[in-house]
Amino acid sequence: MNVRDLLREGTIFLRERGSPSARLDAELLLAHCLGQRRVDLYTHPQREPGPQERQAYRSLLERRARQEPVSYLLGRKEFYGLSFLVDERVLIPRPETEVLVELTLERARGRRWRGLRLADVGTGSGCIAVALARHLPQARVYATDISAAALALALENCRRHGVEERVALLLGDLCEPLPEVVDLLLCNPPYTVWGSLPGGIRDYEPRLALDGGPDGLAFYRRLLQQLPGRLSPGGSALLELGDNQAESVLDLFRAGLPGVPLQTWPDVAGLPRVLEIGPL
Ligand SMILES: C[S@@+](CC[C@H](N)C(=O)[O-])C[C@H]1O[C@@H](n2cnc3c(N)ncnc32)[C@H](O)[C@@H]1O
Repeated sequence: MNVRDLLREGTIFLRERGSPSARLDAELLLAHCLGQRRVDLYTHPQREPGPQERQAYRSLLERRARQEPVSYLLGRKEFYGLSFLVDERVLIPRPETEVLVELTLERARGRRWRGLRLADVGTGSGCIAVALARHLPQARVYATDISAAALALALENCRRHGVEERVALLLGDLCEPLPEVVDLLLCNPPYTVWGSLPGGIRDYEPRLALDGGPDGLAFYRRLLQQLPGRLSPGGSALLELGDNQAESVLDLFRAGLPGVPLQTWPDVAGLPRVLEIGPL
């Protein structure tokens, strides 16, 4: 069987098992097994993969049919133009989180900070911390997580992108491990209601990264308690928001931090995606 046949077979196999992106998935998985780029499948459709390559492809198709995320099958995910290693220890970085990086870069570049200090609270794969460290060579970045397993993978990603000297990975609860005040504090907290998630997410991605308690807001309440005293004068916190959470989270912070400026920022779909607290 050649590449064209295998693609057709894989697409039909996944489509019959309900995959909404069957063709794309088959292309990504076959290219991965052949150590090629997707475009190479189309420039060399007559190539005949060997038995081991075909076997590896079929085994990934089986796993995909059980709804395992493609990023885990490939072992990597693009975020903010960089490639990150991912596996079941960490949440797969989502494109909407790039807004948090974009807003942070604007603030970091818009002012003259003396030795800019950043914190990424709940770093997971390290995608936010690494993207910021790559774009802000003068910054010191603290990245916390309660999961030692996630931090081990974050360290690999820091090394992969050459920023391990400037990103300090700290094990502990939310902001507690931070050794000093920071100028910009980012957090993409767990904010979903676990029971409402689709099986493809719930069965594979870590509950620790997703479960925001019965109403999804548990971590915003805890961050509200922990934030005071963590930011330098003029500093801000930027928190990612889940769908339809903006009003509830704004109410929480209005009541808890009276007089502190609060503003929400939209994602590409125009939905409020980030809450900015400050500048103080
Ligand atoms: C939604 S994920 C975000 C991961 C990554 N920052 C991203 O945007 O892709 C939340 C992260 O918070 C971590 N986490 C959960 N509870 C925590 C806690 N109490 N303290 C620190 N980190 C925590 C999880 O392990 C997970 O890595």
